[in-house]
Amino acid sequence: MAITYLEQERAFKLDTPNTTYLIGLVGSEGLLGHIYYGKKLHSAKGARLFLRTQEHPCTPDINTRDRVAILDALPTEYSGHGVGDFRESSVRVRDKNGNSGVQLTYLSHEIYKGKKPLEGLPATFGNEKEVTTLVITCEDRVLGLTARLSYSVFEDTDAIARSVCFENQGGDALYLEKAMSGCLDMDNRDFEALTLHGGWARERRMERRKLGHGRFSVSTLRGETSHQEHPFLALLTPGTTQESGEVYAFHFVYSGNFIAQAEISQFDTVRVTMGINPEDFCWKLMPGECFQTPEMIMVYSAAGLSEMTRSFHKLYRGHLIRSPYLHKKPPILVNNWEGTYFDFDEQKLIDIAREGAKLGIEMLVMDDGWFGERFDDNRSLGDWQVNERKLKGGLKYLVDQVNALGMKFGIWIEPEMVSEDSRLYREHPDWAFAIPGREPARSRNQYVLDISRKEVRDHIMDQVSAVLHSANVEYVKWDMNRPLTDLASAALPPDRQGEIFHRYVLGVYEMQQRLIREFPDLLLENCSGGGGRFDPGMLYYSPQIWCSDDTDAIERLAIQESTAMLYPLSTMGAHVSVCPNHTVGRVTPFETRGYVALAGTFGYELDVTKLSPEDAAMVKRQTAMYHRFNEMVREGDYYRIASWQENHLYDCFQVNDPQKEKALVFFTQVLNEPNRRSRILRLQDLQPDADYHIWQVDMEGEELLKDTGRTVNGSVLMQGGFLFERLWGDFQCRLLYLEKTE
Ligand code: GLA
Repeated sequence: MAITYLEQERAFKLDTPNTTYLIGLVGSEGLLGHIYYGKKLHSAKGARLFLRTQEHPCTPDINTRDRVAILDALPTEYSGHGVGDFRESSVRVRDKNGNSGVQLTYLSHEIYKGKKPLEGLPATFGNEKEVTTLVITCEDRVLGLTARLSYSVFEDTDAIARSVCFENQGGDALYLEKAMSGCLDMDNRDFEALTLHGGWARERRMERRKLGHGRFSVSTLRGETSHQEHPFLALLTPGTTQESGEVYAFHFVYSGNFIAQAEISQFDTVRVTMGINPEDFCWKLMPGECFQTPEMIMVYSAAGLSEMTRSFHKLYRGHLIRSPYLHKKPPILVNNWEGTYFDFDEQKLIDIAREGAKLGIEMLVMDDGWFGERFDDNRSLGDWQVNERKLKGGLKYLVDQVNALGMKFGIWIEPEMVSEDSRLYREHPDWAFAIPGREPARSRNQYVLDISRKEVRDHIMDQVSAVLHSANVEYVKWDMNRPLTDLASAALPPDRQGEIFHRYVLGVYEMQQRLIREFPDLLLENCSGGGGRFDPGMLYYSPQIWCSDDTDAIERLAIQESTAMLYPLSTMGAHVSVCPNHTVGRVTPFETRGYVALAGTFGYELDVTKLSPEDAAMVKRQTAMYHRFNEMVREGDYYRIASWQENHLYDCFQVNDPQKEKALVFFTQVLNEPNRRSRILRLQDLQPDADYHIWQVDMEGEELLKDTGRTVNGSVLMQGGFLFERLWGDFQCRLLYLEKTE
C-alpha cells in the first residue's frame, strides 16, 4: 500500500518506489506536523521523534503556555497565519470583520486508489493501479473554513502531487488572500537553491546559490509563467552533481503568477512554500463555495540531478501529457516566421511547401500575418478571419494546395490578444484590460483581452473554431506575446478584482480544453514570445511548447539543457534556422543546427526555397536522421554528461532507449582551444555486461551512419569513458549512435 495511516505513530506514511514522506498529527487538537521526506524508510517506527515536540520549551501537549514557541518551531504540513508561526504562511484569510488569523487542525482523512481531476485546472492523473491519494481534511472552526490537503503518490515515479481545496462552511463571505499549494519544513542541511531564470530569447538558465537565513524566492507577476523566472525550486545538499547528492525539487503545474520560496529560520530549519503569487490575489469565497489551488509536484532524488530529471520526465510523460501525439512521431514542419516574417502570400507559402516536400519536410506552418489586415504587428489581433488579399483563394484553397503536395498544414493564432487597430477593439473596447481613468500600457503595440469573461472567450473561440473547420488544419501554434498589465474587469465587482489574474489563467485553460475537445487529433504547440509559458500546466493541453525565439544552436544548447532538466525532450519545440542567426548573428554549421534541433521536436524555421544546394541536400539527410532517431529522443531516458553552461567549452548529453540497448550521444565542441587533446567523457547507464557497437551519424557519406569500427563494453564506456576527438573549429557537433551487439 503506497499510503498508510499508522495508528500507533499517529502518522501517515506515503511511499513512492524510492522515497518516503511522513506526516504526523500533533497534540490533542491535531496540528499537522511534517516528520520526514527523503530516501525510502522500511518502517516508520520511532520516526515521530523528529517532530521534537518533547523538547524544551515544547511540551507534550501543545495547548499549554508556550504555544508561540511551539508553533514557531514546529515543522508543519501547511502553515497558518497570525497566531504564532512567524515563518512564511501557507494561507491567509480575511473574514467579514477584517481579521486574518488562521490555523488549520485535523478533522478527518481518506485514502483512495486513483486520483480525482482538479476542476478547471491541469493536473497529473493516473488510474487506480498507478496512483494512490490521501486527502486530509483540516478545519479552522473560528472561520468556518475547511481545507482538504491532497497528496497523490505514483507507483512508478518518485513524485508526489499536492494541492489544497478550501471550502467556506460558515455563513459569511471569506477573502482568501493567499492559498499555497504546498509547504514543506525540514532541517537545513546547508542547502543550495537551484532555480531557472532568464529573459526573452534566453529562457531558463540555471542558477545555484547557497541559502542564507531569511527568505529567498522566485516569482512572477506577469500573468504568465514568464521568461524571467520559472515555477521551479530545488534544494540541493552541498556538492550535488548530476550523479550524487540529495535533491528536493518542487515544480508548479500552473501558467500564471507564482511564487516559490525557501525560508531559513532562527533554528536552522528550512520551509519551502509554492503556489499562486499572493500579491494581487484575493479570492472571495461565498458560503458553500470551494477554491481549488493548482498542483505542486515534489520529487526527491538521493542520486543527484540526473535522477530528479528522469523522475520528472517519467511523471510528465506518463501522468500529465494527454495528447495523442505523446507516443507519435510528429510531422517535420517548416514554419515560415523567420523565413518570411509578415511578407508572404499564398504563392510564397505553396513554393515553400513544394520545396519542403521534396526535402522530406511533412508540414507547412503558416505563422503570424494571415488574418485581418495583419501586414505588420501593429494591427488586427482579434480579427480571426483570413486576409484574402494576402491569401488569394482563401484558406481552404491554400491548404488544399499544400495537402496536394503531400504536406500537412498548420496555423498560428494569438487568441488572448487584441490590437487597438482591429474591428474587435472598435466594437468592444471594454473587452481589453484597462483600469478606468488610466491609459493601458501597450506591449508589442497590443492589449490583453479580458478572457476572465465568458462572452469574450466564446467570441474568440467561435472565430478560431470556424477557421479550423474551414480547412484541413492539423496543427495550431497558440501564441501569447505580452505580459498582463492594467488589470481591471468590467465584469467583476470591486471586491473581486483580485481574482482576475487567476481567472485569466482559468480562461486560457478553458479555451485550450475546448480546442482539443473540438479537434481531438489536432497537434497543439503552445508558445509565448518563445518560451514565456513553458510550464507543466500548458503541457496538459499541448504535448510540445516552443522553447525559445532564439534559434541559434549554441544558445539553444543552454536553453534546451535547462529545459530538459525538467521536461522530456519531445516537449521542446526546436527548429533549424538560417545563419547569421536572427537573434544573435552567430554563424554555426548547418549540421550542428540539425543535431541540436533533433534533441527537441525537430523542424525548420526558414525559407527552404532559398537554401544552397549543400544545405538542401543536408535537409534530406537531417529529415532521414529524424525518422531514424525520433522514437529514441521521444521515448528515451536523458542523461546530462557535460554542460557548456558550466565549462564554457563543450557540451554532451546522452539518450538511452528504455531497454538500454541503444544510445545516442550528442557532443558539441562549442569553442575550440589551441593545444588541446581529445576528451574522455563517461557515458551513462548502459548495460555493464553488454558490448556496444558505435556509429557516427554522417551528413555527407553514402549512408546515414558511418561505422567507427569500434565495439566497446558498456562498463568500459561508463567507467573508462569514450574518447571524443578534438574537432577543428568552433560550434562543431558529433552525434554517436551505439547499439548493443548480440
Ligand atoms: C512570437 C513567437 C514567434 C512568432 C511571432 C509571430 O514571438 O514566439 O515564433 O510566432 O510571435 O508574431
